[in-house]
Amino acid sequence: MTILITGATGQFGGAVVRYVLDRTDEQVIVSVRSPEKFTLEGVEVRQGDFDRPETLDFRGVDKLLIVSADAHDSAVRIQQHANAIAKAKEHGVGHVFYTSVTDADTSTLSVAEVHKAAEEAIRATGLTFTFLRNGMYHENYLDTLAQDVVATSTKDGRVASAPRDDLALAAAVALTTDGHENAVYELTGSTSWSFPEVAGEKFRDVSDEDLIAAGMPPFVVDFFAAIREGVLAEVRPDLEKLIGRPSRPIAV
Ligand SMILES: NC(=O)c1ccc[n+]([C@@H]2O[C@H](COP(=O)([O-])OP(=O)(O)OC[C@H]3O[C@@H](n4cnc5c(N)ncnc54)[C@H](OP(=O)(O)O)[C@@H]3O)[C@@H](O)[C@H]2O)c1
Repeated sequence: MTILITGATGQFGGAVVRYVLDRTDEQVIVSVRSPEKFTLEGVEVRQGDFDRPETLDFRGVDKLLIVSADAHDSAVRIQQHANAIAKAKEHGVGHVFYTSVTDADTSTLSVAEVHKAAEEAIRATGLTFTFLRNGMYHENYLDTLAQDVVATSTKDGRVASAPRDDLALAAAVALTTDGHENAVYELTGSTSWSFPEVAGEKFRDVSDEDLIAAGMPPFVVDFFAAIREGVLAEVRPDLEKLIGRPSRPIAV
């Protein structure tokens, strides 16, 4: 059995590799854009850039984890993922795992279109798949929560986020155990929280417009609006089932 993980120079992919190596003696390969950034021993490294499909080499791979790329332009990301998915089909990969987003097919989140497109492209290949629909990382919010004043437009909207590391462990479990064929996992934290609850007296209720005027990037404001609207609030059981324990709550 050969397991290949993309995005392994990133925080999520790197953690998945470490967990997979802990859990199995199977052959582990990484496909990374920048091999000089990958320093773990005991792993075959293949250079591969989603923007240059001719560089992607998924030959001989039984299980492929495509970690979604991080470009800000949706059209670019959709093409990057399409390139990787087409190469998985061309190279006869046995089973494709993809890091998606919660409710990718129905979500009103602006990032959902990228993940919906990737899921559709994977289904269209006819390959066996597993969609790891990751909820929000706790880490997205730690800088904001660490400020002396925590100004958000979320009101008391709740977020069922989870530590990135717990989501990486879930991916590693799925890659190293049987029974995930054509499964769609909604991977949220075991509990939800709100900014007023966690920030306490530091919390300030501001509008989306206030945040834009203060220079906050529009995509962050979009996420705050989604939190306010309850889009990220629902706690699902799948992460806890995969990792065999509740996810760690947010701590500031
Ligand atoms: N659930 C959430 O809250 C959340 C938050 C942020 C991001 N995400 C998504 O989850 C992914 C993993 O998260 P992360 O924290 O590990 O992000 P990260 O640390 O920024 O890692 C992104 C990875 O994608 C790789 N990548 C980017 N463009 C590529 C390309 N053209 N070809 C091949 N690889 C490419 C990067 O390679 P280099 O090292 O060469 O740059 C890096 O390894 C992100 O890329 C993003 O799609 C989810």
